[in-house]
Amino acid sequence: MNRSEIVVSREEQDRQRAFAEMVKALPHRPGSYHVVTYGCQMNAHDSEKIAGMLEEMGMVPSERREDADFVIFNTCCVRENAERRALGNVTWLKEVRKQKPDMVIAVCGCMIQEPGMAELILKKYKFVNLAFGTANLHKLPEMLYETLNSGRQTVNVEDRDVIAEDLPIRRLRNDAAYLTIMYGCDNFCSYCIVPYVRGRERSRDPETIIREAEKLADAGVKEIMLLGQNVNSYGKGLPGNPNFARLLKELDGIGIPRIRFMTSHPKDLSDDLIDVMAAGRHILPQFHLPVQSGNNEILKKMKRHYTREQYLDRVARLRTAVPDIGLSTDIIVSFPGETEEQFQDTMSLLNEVRFDSAFTFIYSPRTGTKAAEMEGLIPEEVSTDRIKRLIALQEELQQDTLKRFIGTEEEILVEGLSRRSKQAVSGKGRHAVSVTVEGNENDIGQILKCRITGLKNNTLTGERI
Ligand code: 5AD
Ligand code: SF4
Repeated sequence: MNRSEIVVSREEQDRQRAFAEMVKALPHRPGSYHVVTYGCQMNAHDSEKIAGMLEEMGMVPSERREDADFVIFNTCCVRENAERRALGNVTWLKEVRKQKPDMVIAVCGCMIQEPGMAELILKKYKFVNLAFGTANLHKLPEMLYETLNSGRQTVNVEDRDVIAEDLPIRRLRNDAAYLTIMYGCDNFCSYCIVPYVRGRERSRDPETIIREAEKLADAGVKEIMLLGQNVNSYGKGLPGNPNFARLLKELDGIGIPRIRFMTSHPKDLSDDLIDVMAAGRHILPQFHLPVQSGNNEILKKMKRHYTREQYLDRVARLRTAVPDIGLSTDIIVSFPGETEEQFQDTMSLLNEVRFDSAFTFIYSPRTGTKAAEMEGLIPEEVSTDRIKRLIALQEELQQDTLKRFIGTEEEILVEGLSRRSKQAVSGKGRHAVSVTVEGNENDIGQILKCRITGLKNNTLTGERI
């Protein structure tokens, strides 16, 4: 597709701004809003854009969804349970609305983009006023205007792959910000629905990204998290062949104290990127590198395009270049046909790599993906047993890997008060590990230097220096 077809035009942006003004002027428009977010960081950032647009339409945030005039569910469909939870909560709100008949309910995000979902909303969820997919986010003002004006249900699912720039953003935090560098995914891992619901891979212009980062730096943001389904393949199809390593190097030069990114695909993790990380001044020594399985046959069936050995090679290189790097991963157990021996290969990979953390999932069949057609679905009891063993092993290993930080100095960006103690705050260290130290509200959003003194339930404790 031509670049001008991908990037939403100025005219269209202006049109949407005009609709935002029209919504604002409607006499009975909602006065308050609440966004319910499911899923990944990408969705969390989309929700910040939704909030930004709604505030431009004159709405104010409402703490509780049941009190809001406009409630919007930004959904995820990567696993079935995320979807079930979202639909359950949408249905619950239908009951609440009996007491608050003017409430407007919207559902958006990945789930709406799933095949058949729009039809389901039209047939079975008639009480939902507005539903739209990920490709239509920037048209929220127009769609909301139509819904409010006509009183009819609006369902809008297009699968055009767009990049919408200059949307207003209401950020959740002042100290740390998300910055999307690319959208969509072209990998089609056989289990994954993301390429179907988020569309083809498309990268933002490097100049636009750098400008946004500079603005964040001027605003005093201390940490940026670069987002993309596969940041390592950033730049494909752009003039001048920019790549992630070069982009990261430029961003490092801006001077924002902390830069993180996710997610990476092992097959695209270049030596150049590792070198940029090693030489970087602000790039945090942490890496989220989903492995999914430790068995080569399963990796092949997953269409991951790397072997266990190649993955281990990437880990070794990262560790040589960035000593003490904090490594985390994603793992799926019970992919169709996975035998106990193949599962044991994943267990042994954990033993071999020793991650600082691992996100573990039971395989969930997603209609439309290649894996959903494969035979050999693993019975639930077997999957539950496998994931329990995997989590137990990871916890045991983590107790040991995190000990390496005891006695070292860490800088943490304080996120909030500690849940365990009123006189303590917690935040993430440079290696992405949680640290709790003595402190109070005034420390939130600050970077604190501390010495790590202990480890309690996978959380490090420290003393301020
Ligand atoms: N079933 C289980 N886990 C999945 N993931 C993606 N698709 C599925 C699925 N169908 C996991 C992968 C991915 C993470 C975001 O979610 O581990 O890295
Ligand atoms: Fe899904 Fe694979 Fe793309 Fe990640 S890289 S979003 S797992 S298809």
